[in-house]
Amino acid sequence: MTGLPGRVSDAPFSSRIPGFHKLALPERAATIGRLCKLSAEETAALSASLAPADASSMIENVIGVHALPLGVATNFVVNGRDVLVPMAIEESSVVAAASNAARMARDHGGFRAQADPPVMIGQVQILDVSDAVAAGKAIEASLPRLRSVVNDPKSTMVRMGGGLQGVESRAVATPEGTMLVVHLLVDVRDAMGANAVNTVCESLAPILAELSGGRAVLRILSNYADRRLARASAVFDRDLLGGARVVEDMVRAFAFADADPWRAATHNKGVMNGIDAVVAATGNDTRAVEAGAHAWAARTGRYRSLTRARRTPEGHLAAEIELPLALGVVGGATKVHPTARVALKILGTAGAGELACVVASVGLAQNVAAVRALCDEGIQKGHMALHARNVAIMAGARGDQVEAVAERMVREGNVRVSRAQEILAGNV
Ligand code: MEV
Repeated sequence: MTGLPGRVSDAPFSSRIPGFHKLALPERAATIGRLCKLSAEETAALSASLAPADASSMIENVIGVHALPLGVATNFVVNGRDVLVPMAIEESSVVAAASNAARMARDHGGFRAQADPPVMIGQVQILDVSDAVAAGKAIEASLPRLRSVVNDPKSTMVRMGGGLQGVESRAVATPEGTMLVVHLLVDVRDAMGANAVNTVCESLAPILAELSGGRAVLRILSNYADRRLARASAVFDRDLLGGARVVEDMVRAFAFADADPWRAATHNKGVMNGIDAVVAATGNDTRAVEAGAHAWAARTGRYRSLTRARRTPEGHLAAEIELPLALGVVGGATKVHPTARVALKILGTAGAGELACVVASVGLAQNVAAVRALCDEGIQKGHMALHARNVAIMAGARGDQVEAVAERMVREGNVRVSRAQEILAGNV
């Protein structure tokens, strides 16, 4: 496991930066650049988007670049280390909410998090097998042969202790008959692992077909990465949450989410607001993480909450999260995308396991912040203030005008582009 609790802080700075949100954008970028020792080029990459030529080599039919705001959540302490968390997201309030919840956990030691070894599952579906159980046993007994075929001692992954580690077989009953499904367990080290696992699946499929006497058809990783879980927990301060009544209502809100799939979907959406934002900022695959998270949420046969919470004897809120997190710090967009590279440097995580620890912590913070707001003032108040700023910008407000126009519209309870245009034109 990575990121055991109690690790001594080695961050050269505090992630608590009072007044950070009040700075102008260039000052914020400069502050992060200074704290995280970014070069001038790296700091510039925060505002420079992906070059169209690079974008063009990433996907097909490229006609441009689609940008998202990149924010930094403050106040996070994960396993004793102060962390500044880059988040790429279009939704207002998310970065502020994560930072707030992290502040509420800070004086209670922050987040304690762990990540399993980075083992991904590759699936090979084998059809037309007469005895799936016997064929599965023959395949499992052939692990040394399978390993010798794919674990190239010269590959970086194998040299670092990764590669094919195990093989399991299952007979899966379907309306189209029973199928033999082989799970290839691949330790992908610091990669997300899709490429490595798919290569292993495709390389071994002919041998698996020969061993089983069947026909290998689907050869692909499973996004249900349940061998690669991450978990985080934290204690959130009762008084900062809003007092005993809010904590009481929050405990019941968590119970509601775990008991009711309609609420669980929204509760988990709040978790994923935080998780996806860090996953996107670091150039990782948001769809893979989403697929794994929701499959995990449904593992008992009912769709449930990804988080749990209880009151501590002192009346604080103790909350925890566990979910699959297939994340990489090498390969893919993590290295191609210039902003993703800088995002990883800001995080300062030593590897994929430590990144998973931070991401799980952010998901928990995000969820606690949303549930707290729902149990207290509701979420519209905060949302409206930020929404009003977007509306002001859409109406043409710039610089100081943005805050002034937004504040006025919220006060009037009339947040509309037409109203913002009137205010800007002086027709008040
Ligand atoms: C909105 O993006 C997320 C929330 O709906 C999450 C929740 O209801 O817990 C506020």
